[in-house]
Amino acid sequence: MKQRRLCSPASLAHAALLAAAAVALLPLAAGQPWPTCGSSGTYKAGSTYESNLHDLAVALRATAASSPTKLFAAGTRGGAPDAVYGLLLCRGDVSVSDCYDCGTRAIRDVGRAVCRRAKDEALVYNQCYARFSDRVDFLAASDNSGGETLLISGTNISSADVAGYDRAVTDLLAATVRYAVESNTARLFATGQRVGADPGFRNIYSMAQCSPDISPAACRRCLEDVLGRWWQLFPLNGEGARVAGGRCYLRSELGVGPFYTGAPMVLLRADGL
Ligand SMILES: *[C@@H]1O[C@H](CO)[C@@H](O)[C@H](O)[C@H]1NC(C)=O
Repeated sequence: MKQRRLCSPASLAHAALLAAAAVALLPLAAGQPWPTCGSSGTYKAGSTYESNLHDLAVALRATAASSPTKLFAAGTRGGAPDAVYGLLLCRGDVSVSDCYDCGTRAIRDVGRAVCRRAKDEALVYNQCYARFSDRVDFLAASDNSGGETLLISGTNISSADVAGYDRAVTDLLAATVRYAVESNTARLFATGQRVGADPGFRNIYSMAQCSPDISPAACRRCLEDVLGRWWQLFPLNGEGARVAGGRCYLRSELGVGPFYTGAPMVLLRADGL
């Protein structure tokens, strides 16, 4: 994974935590978007790069919001040295109008506002993920080696059974990944819920999604790789965590209700009912 620098001052404590692994955790309390600002350079106000970036962000919004099956767009604008590569992926359950609105937020936030004109930036929202870069690496890869944004809720479970909780999360995420790559191959997206008996972690909600321009097999590899690293990346007792990347995205949340719309695609009953 590329070395990445965080823009959000609120994240600095977490940045120190995992500096050795060149990743950093962004607390959800910091608010949307949760950015990851690259260190590969900046562009100037009024530059060709800036206008290419803006044009691309507008085009990606239009394409993603007009493809209800995929809610996705990737592309490029301009030629070297001002070429910009970008991707917009809306959460698989949102409407085209919510996808469009999330694209609008990305257009507003990209560049100057959040990453102080870093050429390479990722913006995570609850309803979409946007990535822009002067390099094609993140689009050319079939995994998240082009960069990831890690988010944690910052809150802990009340249950003392941390090992049981971790097994529950792992089981749910694994089932959610399987559904996305085996049963929803058009969109490579799945939502999940596990209902358990321990009141400390009664309902866990999940989501797995890939950029739909990679194959189901590549999607499975990408998501399983993320899942394999999950408990090295996050605290064992954390209530919520996400790994968002240009190729795949995995999320788990403890809660009273789902963070996605509609019924869960995967339902695990572990409460004896
Ligand atoms: C949550 O648990 C971690 C240990 O995994 C601890 O460092 C942290 O202080 C706890 N946070 C809260 C809010 O209790």
